[in-house]
This record gives sequence, C-alpha cells and structure tokens, in this order.
Amino acid sequence: MQLSLSPPFAFASSLYSQVVFLMVPGVLFCCFLLLLVFHQWNRPKDKRLPPGSMGWPYIGETLKLYAENPNSFFFNRQKRFGDIFKTHILGCPCVMICSPEAARIVLVTRAHLFKPTYPTSKEKMIGPEALFFHQGAYHSRLKKLVQASFLPSAIRGSVSEIEQIVLRFLPSWKNTTINTLQEMKRYAFDVAMISAFGDKQDLETEGIKHLYHRLEKGYNSMPLDLPGTPFHKAMKARKLLNETLRKLIQERRQSSRQGGGLLGVLLGDKDNKKLNQLSDSQIADNIIGVIFAAHDTTASVLTWILKYLHDNEDLLEAVTREQEGIRSKIVEANRGLTWDDTRRMPLTSRVIQETLRTASILSFTFREAVEDVEFEGYFIPKGWKVLPLFRSIHHCADFFPQPERFDPSRFEVPPKPNTYMPFGNGVHSCPGSELAKLEMLILLHHLTPTYRWQTVGVEDGIQYGPFPVPKWGLPLRVGRRNKSATP
Ligand code: HEM
Ligand SMILES: *[C@@H]1O[C@H](CO)[C@@H](O)[C@H](O)[C@H]1NC(C)=O
Ligand SMILES: *[C@@H]1O[C@H](CO)[C@@H](O)[C@H](O)[C@H]1NC(C)=O
Ligand SMILES: *[C@@H]1O[C@H](CO)[C@@H](O)[C@H](O)[C@H]1NC(C)=O
Repeated sequence: MQLSLSPPFAFASSLYSQVVFLMVPGVLFCCFLLLLVFHQWNRPKDKRLPPGSMGWPYIGETLKLYAENPNSFFFNRQKRFGDIFKTHILGCPCVMICSPEAARIVLVTRAHLFKPTYPTSKEKMIGPEALFFHQGAYHSRLKKLVQASFLPSAIRGSVSEIEQIVLRFLPSWKNTTINTLQEMKRYAFDVAMISAFGDKQDLETEGIKHLYHRLEKGYNSMPLDLPGTPFHKAMKARKLLNETLRKLIQERRQSSRQGGGLLGVLLGDKDNKKLNQLSDSQIADNIIGVIFAAHDTTASVLTWILKYLHDNEDLLEAVTREQEGIRSKIVEANRGLTWDDTRRMPLTSRVIQETLRTASILSFTFREAVEDVEFEGYFIPKGWKVLPLFRSIHHCADFFPQPERFDPSRFEVPPKPNTYMPFGNGVHSCPGSELAKLEMLILLHHLTPTYRWQTVGVEDGIQYGPFPVPKWGLPLRVGRRNKSATP
C-alpha cells in the first residue's frame, strides 16, 4: 500500500523538492538582487563618507598628527584624498575641509547644521555661558553686544589709552633680552583689560588680573580635577574670579554707573520686551571669554610680526619710513596719535594682513554636525567633528602664489572671496578683529622708528602653545635704532 501510494506522493514530493531545490537559490538570488536595488535606492551616493583613513580604533590618527607636524599631516592628506577628507583624531571622527567654498558652507550658509564645539574642560574654565559655546537666540543677543563694543566707532576713543600702554612698555625693553611672546602677552592683556572694564580702574582690577593669570595656567593642562593638578588650581582661581567679578558687577549695578568697556555695555543691555537683564554669571562668563579670546591670539600674531620684520630688512625700513612720516607730523602738531592716523598706514596694515595669512595662528576651528548632513556629495553623520582648515586655504598656491613667501604686496589687490579668513567667517567670526589690528598698528608706530631687534640664539622653528609661535617665544635683544646706519 505504501508503495502504491508512494508514486504520486513521490512524484509530488519530488516535484516539490525540485521546486524547492530550484526556488531556494532563485529566491535567494532575487533577495540578493532586491537587496542590491534597495541598497542602491536607500544609500544613494550621498551616503558615502568622505575619503580618508580612520587609523587605529579609538586613537585613530592622533599619533600621526603629533609625530608629523600638523601642517604636513593636513597637506599630505589633502593631496591624497582631496579637499574634503575624513580622519579620526583625539577620540573623534572628523571631516577636514580645505576648500574655500566648502568652508563657507560650514561657517556661513549652513552654519545652523554645524555647532561650535570645545572640550568641556575649556567650557568649565571660561564659563559655560560665554558666547562661543552657543548658537541661536542667546548667541546672537550676546554677539550684537560684543560687536557693538568693538566696532571702530567704539574703539576709536581708546587709541590714546592704548598708546599710553605702549609708551610704558617700550622703554623697559631697551638694552635687554626679552621673551617677545611674554611681553606681547602682557601688552595684549593690558589692552584686553581696558576693553573689558573701561579705562577707569575699579577696586577689583588688580585682583582680577592676578586671578586671571592663575586661571590661564590651566588652559592647556590635562582636565584632571584632583588636588594639586594645574586644572584643579585653575578651577579654584575660576571660582574666586566668579566672586570678584560678581562683587564688581553688583557695585556697578547699585551705583547705577555702568562704567566703561564691554562690562558697561553688558550691564546696560535690557532685552527690549521683557526688560530681561543678563545675569551676573552670563556677564562674568562673557567678560572672561573675551579676555581669553583677545590676548594670546593678538600676542602670537605680534610675535610673528617682529620675526618677519627682523628677517626682511628692506620691509622693516619701508615700514619705518611710513611710520616716521606720520610721527613727524604728530610731533610737529604736538599731539598724540589718533584713530585717523592709524587709517593712513597702508604698508604696515599689509604687513599685518600677510602675517595673519602666513602664520595662520588659528590653523582651523572645530564644528560638530548637529544632525546627519548631506554635504557636497558626501554623508557626514551626526556628532562628527567638522574642521575648516584655515591654514590650508591660506597656504594654497592657487589663491596665494608662492604661499611660503612673506610678501605683503600680495594684499595690494584684495584676496579672492572666501580664501582669506584669519578672523573666521559667518555668525561666529571674530568681533575683535579691528581692536587686534589697532593695537598692532599702535605698537609698530612707536617701535619701528626708535628700536631695532636681534634674535638671540640661532634656533629657527615653531612651537605650539597652543598657537604656533616662533620657538622659545622669540627671545630678542632690543636696542635703539642706529639711525646713522640707515640710508
Ligand atoms: C589677531 C588676533 C585675533 C585672531 C587671529 C582672532 C581670530 C578669531 C577667529 C578665527 C574666530 C572664529 C572662531 C570660530 O569660528 O570658531 C574668533 C572668534 C572670536 N574672537 Fe577673535 N581673534 C583675535 C583677536 C580677538 C580680540 C582682540 C578679541 C576681543 C574682542 C576677540 C574676540 C573673539 C570672540 C569673542 C570670538 C567668538 C565669537 C563667536 O563665537 O561668535 N578676538 N577669533
Ligand atoms: C643702553 O645702552 C646705551 C649704549 O649702549 C646707553 O647709552 C644707554 O644709557 C642704555 N640705556 C639704558 C636704559 O640702560
Ligand atoms: C559661578 O557662579 C554661578 C552662579 O552665579 C555658578 O552657576 C557657576 O557654577 C560658578 N562658576 C564657578 C566656576 O564656580
Ligand atoms: C651704528 O652704525 C655705525 C656706522 O654705520 C657703526 O659703526 C656701528 O657699529 C653701528 N652700531 C650698532 C650698534 O649697530
């Protein structure tokens, strides 16, 4: 029975098994095809990550970045992968941006998709409510206030105050060896203090200076909050600074004398509709933030200017002639330097511009994708860092021929759009650019006609602290200029 029944069954089953036998690979094949198609539909080209190497797990390419110098690290990868490439440094996947157009997209046209990002330790030291950590309404409210207090119309009145600082510093450099970076930091710090608090000294000024210097010792330390570490000491100084600033703010609020400087502007601000004052800690964080942003940057650029003028004798003589021309008129009229005088220094201004390009002390800035972003045919996942590389753009021969040459005359014509960004671009660009240039002009006005400087030691090189500066902070021997020796 079984046998008699088996043939149809057997047939059926063999048919079945044959069908199955044929179908399994068929279905699999179809699935595979479907998957492929699906894959193509769902992951079109824009899901492609930028080219580049992510290096080892976790440490990525960090060691390579430190082993090579950062400039050649970026340069080699740009050559190999193009203007947009990925890497992995300091524990973060990053996309590097080396073309002016792409940098503009990140910083300007789609800036809302890329928020600024800093290490949390930095945020704690400076204060989380400082404007650079923010986007949107709070950022733009503060940005307007900070910009207002550093507009040319607002700073033109400080020319003589800054000139007084220069005239106090210069004689102390004569006949000695100075550490240029340290001296420039002292100068830029004093200028930052008057722009933060106004030119009238408050009772608290000395205390604030002292505490700020204790705080800044921790800026580039490991963020280890254990007793005795630089970070811990810095945070202690920050807490005391909190108290001192609060006292000063309360005094100025009570005496209804807002006083000068950025502090005066911040105290005066009331949000139109709600009469919403900024809180004490919003004010304190932004004051400390501006002092932080203003002084190491300007000091590093000034150090480079002295280096470049030292290395380019003819240029130094030409700058000197420009400044002597202005000086003699001022002496004749028996007056001090004015804002209008500083607008008549075209060559000196070009030296500053070229220094900002060549030295590019902010080699790049950090942004972070706030969502998955489709970018120039690539896919940038949410949370990835995005770094516009200012230095690579400033050193690209397509925009600045012979980029390694120090040649201020290249700025006799304006640079191509978006290729020159020493002060950044877009909503987070630097509000202090005019002040920075002004304090450089005033220093050079008094330095070049009277003094000359020689490097001490022969070592050429760059150190990072954290901005690139000449090695050892450029030790210089400063003396009186030997007028008889010049034609
Ligand atoms: C030569 C000196 C300086 C250079 C090269 C410089 C450069 C820059 C750059 C590139 C940015 C943009 C950073 C970014 O987009 O992530 C920036 C932001 C900033 N700078 Fe400067 N800066 C200098 C001096 C100053 C001075 C004197 C001040 C004082 C007012 C200042 C205050 C600021 C502030 C408050 C920001 C943050 C703006 C924001 O996030 O909206 N800087 N600076
Ligand atoms: C600096 O040196 C010159 C000559 O070497 C001398 O005449 C002058 O008095 C010195 N100035 C100071 C401040 O020491
Ligand atoms: C400063 O004071 C504010 C409160 O006004 C507080 O939130 C903040 O944490 C303080 N900062 C430090 C570093 O102590
Ligand atoms: C100053 O110039 C004179 C004449 O050119 C020269 O003899 C003298 O050595 C120079 N002095 C210095 C300090 O350079």
